[in-house]
Amino acid sequence: MKRYFGYGLPYIEISDLKGKLIVVEGSDGVGRSVQIYALRSWLELQGYGVAETGWTRSQLMSQTIHLAKEGHNMNIHTFNLLYATDFADRLEHEIIPALRAGFVVLADRYIYTAFARASVRGADMKWMRKLFGFAIIPDLVLYLKAGVETLVHRRLLSGSMDYWEAGLDQNPGLDPYDSFIRYQTKIIREYNRLAQEFAFEIINAERSPERIQKDLRLRIAALLGIPQMQVMENLSVPMTPRPGV
Ligand SMILES: Nc1ncnc2c1ncn2[C@@H]1O[C@H](COP(=O)(O)OP(=O)(O)OP(=O)(O)O)[C@@H](O)[C@H]1O
Ligand SMILES: [Mg+2]
Repeated sequence: MKRYFGYGLPYIEISDLKGKLIVVEGSDGVGRSVQIYALRSWLELQGYGVAETGWTRSQLMSQTIHLAKEGHNMNIHTFNLLYATDFADRLEHEIIPALRAGFVVLADRYIYTAFARASVRGADMKWMRKLFGFAIIPDLVLYLKAGVETLVHRRLLSGSMDYWEAGLDQNPGLDPYDSFIRYQTKIIREYNRLAQEFAFEIINAERSPERIQKDLRLRIAALLGIPQMQVMENLSVPMTPRPGV
């Protein structure tokens, strides 16, 4: 039975939602997009309707957030209010309707991303939890866990580090590479703490894409009641970059 994380949305009853909400969390560049893409194809082959949703990708807010990020002068409260607006729009227009229709919803990041980023920036975490109290508690949180060296490697292979993922707002004047290491180390520490508090399923993401995919599928199969032998079907993970996701 679905429950809200906090106060919830008083005008939407969620206890009867049939679908499953599965979150994939993890640091910038850890490999969420390639894994979600492969999970989606696999789940569809198993006969599930699948909907994808991603942090900051709402119709209402994605462009605004993109523009705001270009400015390099947002503080953590502005950030969180933009995030919360984006999330509210996706919850009402994407996530809840899909769950009501019995879909599996794959969420690329969730409120934990906001919690980790806010925490390392010294935000008031009681306020944060109230702000995101309208979130639905996911059925499963899959945390792709990797050390900062792995992240640097994958980020450098896939392009350059942007201002925010290098945490340059936290380390003004520092070399972006050094700032990335310092900032992402703190984010990883925070994710690891959240993993305990919110019972994430921890997936070692420092392995081959197929090995990670298999682990993710095993956890999802257990949730959905998919027979183990179907976990290995079509285990390839296409590594083509997917711009913007
Ligand atoms: N298991 C893996 N081993 C090696 N490289 C990987 C692995 N998974 C992903 N990559 C590579 O790392 C880069 C980042 O992958 P991807 O875009 O899926 O990450 P992401 O978590 O979605 O990143 P972002 O935070 O930018 O959305 C890509 O170049 C991808 O090919
Ligand atoms: Mg991505």
